Amino acid sequence: MSETASITLNGKTLELPVITGTENEKAIDISKLRDQSGYITLDIGYKNTGATQSAITFLDGENGVLKHRGYKIEDLAEKSTFLEVAYLLIYGHLPSKEVLEKFRADIKAQMLVHEDMKIFFAGFPSKSHPMGQLSCLVGALSAFYPESLNPNQTEEEENKTIINLLGKMPTIVSWIQKKSLGHPVVYPKKDLGYIDNFMNMIFGEVNSDKTFDPVIIDAMHKLLILHADHEQNCSTSTVRIVGSSNANLYASVSAGINALWGPLHGGANQAVIEMLEDIKNDGGDVEKYLAKAKDKNDPFRLMGFGHRVYKNFDPRAKIIKKACDDILEKLGVQDPVLDIAKKLEEAALSDQYFIDRKLYPNVDFYSGIIYRALGFNSDMFTVLFALGRLPGWIAQWKEMRDKKEPIGRPRQVYNGEIDRVYTDISTR
Ligand code: SDX
Repeated sequence: MSETASITLNGKTLELPVITGTENEKAIDISKLRDQSGYITLDIGYKNTGATQSAITFLDGENGVLKHRGYKIEDLAEKSTFLEVAYLLIYGHLPSKEVLEKFRADIKAQMLVHEDMKIFFAGFPSKSHPMGQLSCLVGALSAFYPESLNPNQTEEEENKTIINLLGKMPTIVSWIQKKSLGHPVVYPKKDLGYIDNFMNMIFGEVNSDKTFDPVIIDAMHKLLILHADHEQNCSTSTVRIVGSSNANLYASVSAGINALWGPLHGGANQAVIEMLEDIKNDGGDVEKYLAKAKDKNDPFRLMGFGHRVYKNFDPRAKIIKKACDDILEKLGVQDPVLDIAKKLEEAALSDQYFIDRKLYPNVDFYSGIIYRALGFNSDMFTVLFALGRLPGWIAQWKEMRDKKEPIGRPRQVYNGEIDRVYTDISTR
């Protein structure tokens, strides 16, 4: 006998099916509720509402568990590479050595960006925010690859679009970094791997190959893996709902980039560094800022703390915090805001307000400190989050399209004016 949920409305009892996931999550299937009762449900911010069934990522917020296609994030971050995790997320299984090599080669072959994209890229003011530039440039790719507009692409054609976007993104990100410095772009090189190519395009010069300490390359793999997917977060839900209208992959990811930009979401990694800098410049008084964060009359929030799902440590934050110590030590970097971050974390974790609300450091709390140690400007941090999240967005978009899910169109409860009589302006 399958489990059901009984709901009685106007004296009529409905039995709604209960869905059980492979990790034993439970959901009440309300897809027939309105037909059977005329009622809808209301859940502002979708805090208790599932939008889909997905096989890509599992989060256990109470226990701080994150797994991709059944693999623990701790194992992937420690032992895998970014493109191997990208393959796993998008195609559902780990690739063989040969398949991974071909995946890497196919992506590398797509890293060159059409020179005409530089024409409108040149129009951005040099201080315009990198996330606005990124969303624009990614959306513009559909103009150069119009075949992607066909919602009925064959699997092979769709895969070409996926590979193309994975190849173009690091180059576009490097263009944005170079523009912020007023420097010429550096082109991808055939003899470099994905991360080495990316770092050379970011920090290299036109005629000089820059080599990178393996510690730095390893840190970038780890950071991008830790950001690769996170089930139905704000930006991924945006990618899915835009893609559900049969919009092309570039447009869907461009929308996701804009959702990620918000400081409550991916923009938090930049906001954390700015917050830590403010605390440092204000004398390092963490208690003062904890008090501000708890004051309901103060809009200040402790950036990098709290999470919609994790009511325990974000496993990614733990890994990044350790990586922070390791990398700064190996690079010989002393960053005073790291000490402030640790003091702030220690104070918050023992503060009743944060304990009561189960507020812990999230992925954004320490990541900016590493990005800064690696030489990135703070307004590039969320762009790096987007680069990491790209395979997750693609995987979720592909899963939604493969399952032919319907166009996303939530309902509402109307609470506005009713039956107002229109009067001519002359009589108002
Ligand atoms: C990411 O969803 C994902 O998976 C996202 C992400 C991913 O990988 O895609 O993990 C990436 O976006 C991480 C989150 C980055 N954002 C921040 O660090 C911004 C600061 N955090 C908050 O704004 C907040 O915690 C959110 C937005 C992350 C979550 O907000 P919720 O789930 O809507 O929770 P809420 O605002 O209802 O807060 C519940 C209570 C409230 O207090 P009360 O009204 O109950 O008294 O906790 C308080 C909030 O005021 N609270 C905070 C706080 N976060 C929540 N108080 C102070 N500082 C904070 N950071």
